[in-house]
Amino acid sequence: MTLETLREETPGTQDVLHFNNAGAALPPQPVVDAQIRHLQREARIGGYEAAADAADALEDTYAALADMLGCGTDEVALVENATRAWDMAFYGMDFDAGDRILTSRAAYASNYIAFLQVAERTGAQVDVVPSTDTGEIDVNALRETIDDRVRLIALTHIPTNGGLVHPAADVGAIAADAGVPFLLDACQSAGQRPLPVDDLQCTMLSGTGRKYLRGPRGTGFLYVDRNWIERIEPPLLDLYAATWTSPDTYEIRPDARRFETFESHVAGQVGLGVAVRYALNLGLDAIRERVTALAETLRTALAAVDGVTVADTGRVRSGITTFYAEHMEAAEIQAALRERDVNTSVSTPSSTRLDAEARHLPDLVRASVHYYNTEAEIDRFVETLKDVLTG
Ligand SMILES: Cc1ncc(COP(=O)(O)O)c(C=O)c1O
Repeated sequence: MTLETLREETPGTQDVLHFNNAGAALPPQPVVDAQIRHLQREARIGGYEAAADAADALEDTYAALADMLGCGTDEVALVENATRAWDMAFYGMDFDAGDRILTSRAAYASNYIAFLQVAERTGAQVDVVPSTDTGEIDVNALRETIDDRVRLIALTHIPTNGGLVHPAADVGAIAADAGVPFLLDACQSAGQRPLPVDDLQCTMLSGTGRKYLRGPRGTGFLYVDRNWIERIEPPLLDLYAATWTSPDTYEIRPDARRFETFESHVAGQVGLGVAVRYALNLGLDAIRERVTALAETLRTALAAVDGVTVADTGRVRSGITTFYAEHMEAAEIQAALRERDVNTSVSTPSSTRLDAEARHLPDLVRASVHYYNTEAEIDRFVETLKDVLTG
């Protein structure tokens, strides 16, 4: 597909300059159409009946995710967002006093809050593995710190607050060597780079639909390695995740759908399948290449603007660029850009507290590009930013 076709299929590109793809990307028309078709079907024939009619499309959502991850459809659960996906895995594990959870400095707030809660409840301890000078988890330090008390390695693949891409496959190799489960938060990487779980050697992986996959809001997914599914007990169960087999007994499903609930956003899940197929058709290697190149162009251009500091670290970098300005707060910049139909978001220190404090970061403007963005949009973005900064 040419860039022109991609943009024609993305109606939002005519209305806004969208550099908020790490917030929620603009969906392509086929994703919008699939959802609307399903909603209309629900209105015409009933929600349960429409879901029954959409059974093949829903199955294909599992199949598309399995194709993307290189796993079986029995290893995929559809849930409402990346947080719940991650929670179902994390809170499904057993921790005791003295157990260690290893993570990295750029951990996402929701995940770290969950670590703290579980540590408080169980006496487990959270250990933050040191980072390299360029911000990645230090894999040598990780290897050295592993002992027989480590119960989990949990990594945010691409942090919410910048370009850094952690060496997830190296971490996975260390986890596999040590026989420790590895939970990868791929929320910001799903849809912008390939995620082959065999190469990443992750035990569990969580992702969301609305970001780089360009899927619907309110959709997420969880992958769990088949050998681990029955060792992770969902923290919440319903009559779909488990069967009430006698007055005093129940049986939990043996596949990853044990992490789901009966009621779900069917139109969104159908749309998610279309979005994943869309990304697979374009090719995740090609997407990564273009997104990375555009983001580097943006960083270079931003670094040349007076009074602007680019805050990204990482030897390997993603489509997310963060920056701050000497004389204007991030929220003010974001609002002024929004008034000019230019979309960005703000990343506050509390979303990645350890990293923000270690690097003394203020609130950051986050400009995240996707493959459908253009070099001309980068030029326009930088010109608009200069305009905003000079009042
Ligand atoms: C690294 C990371 N993990 C998890 C999430 C949560 O994703 P969701 O909002 O789909 O639950 C985010 C959201 O920004 C994120 O940046």
